[in-house]
Amino acid sequence: MTALLEVDRLDLYYGDAQALDAVSIAAQEGEIVAIVGSNGAGKSSLIRAIAGIEPPRRGTVRYRGRDITGLPSHAVCQLGVGQVAEGRQVFPSLTVRENLEMGAMLARARPRMAGAIAEVFTLFPRLRERERQAAGTLSGGEQQMLAIGRCLMGQPELIMFDEPSLGLAPAVVQEVFQTIKALHGRGLTIILVEQNVAVSLRLAQSAYVLENGRIVMRGSGAELLADDRVRQAYLGL
Ligand SMILES: Nc1ncnc2c1ncn2[C@@H]1O[C@H](COP(=O)(O)OP(=O)(O)OP(=O)(O)O)[C@@H](O)[C@H]1O
Ligand SMILES: [Mg+2]
Repeated sequence: MTALLEVDRLDLYYGDAQALDAVSIAAQEGEIVAIVGSNGAGKSSLIRAIAGIEPPRRGTVRYRGRDITGLPSHAVCQLGVGQVAEGRQVFPSLTVRENLEMGAMLARARPRMAGAIAEVFTLFPRLRERERQAAGTLSGGEQQMLAIGRCLMGQPELIMFDEPSLGLAPAVVQEVFQTIKALHGRGLTIILVEQNVAVSLRLAQSAYVLENGRIVMRGSGAELLADDRVRQAYLGL
């Protein structure tokens, strides 16, 4: 079986500093893949390299068997690879609805904009209530919902989440995970980078540990959750 996404021996540098060293990961269609690692391990760099934001020096990224290495980010999005970046990136002076419309500017998404907005409002009723409110005035949790909603407007098949629960209150964190589960239930493929390592490994079918830019461990979510090294280093057990 060919994976939906295949990253093969990716090297990424910032100047002379190497951030990714021969990183290989795969995501099968419909699975949740967790990437675990401490601060500075290279998790966001990996997502940005897949998304076409940071060009890798070596290695390949394949999506549906096609080599997409080096494609610009809009072209990667157009193929169905979406991302919810670290830090709830919304356009603060635009309204909730305008932010969602911005998410549908891709050719693949524009014709389905009206239906997609209705779906996002069904998923996040609080966004419907705040449709005409400036995004910058939303609470942190609402902004994260909006960031997820805007990503969904692009009709992604695969979504990469970078620390979606960071800085949110516990109840909202639960809501974010429920949303990720619901999207997985709809058949979306998900790459999840999360500080909540236990929760993300419980959700994930497969998982990788990234340390200093290298994959040092891989397995099913359950296997990594049971691994002593993972438990000590990332779960404090
Ligand atoms: N734009 C950049 N320019 C130079 N170095 C960078 C840049 N972005 C990241 N780095 C460096 O690359 C390494 C990996 O960073 P990255 O943000 O990918 O880690 P991370 O695993 O996402 O960490 P965190 O958990 O803190 O978000 C770090 O040493 C970081 O300082
Ligand atoms: Mg990061």
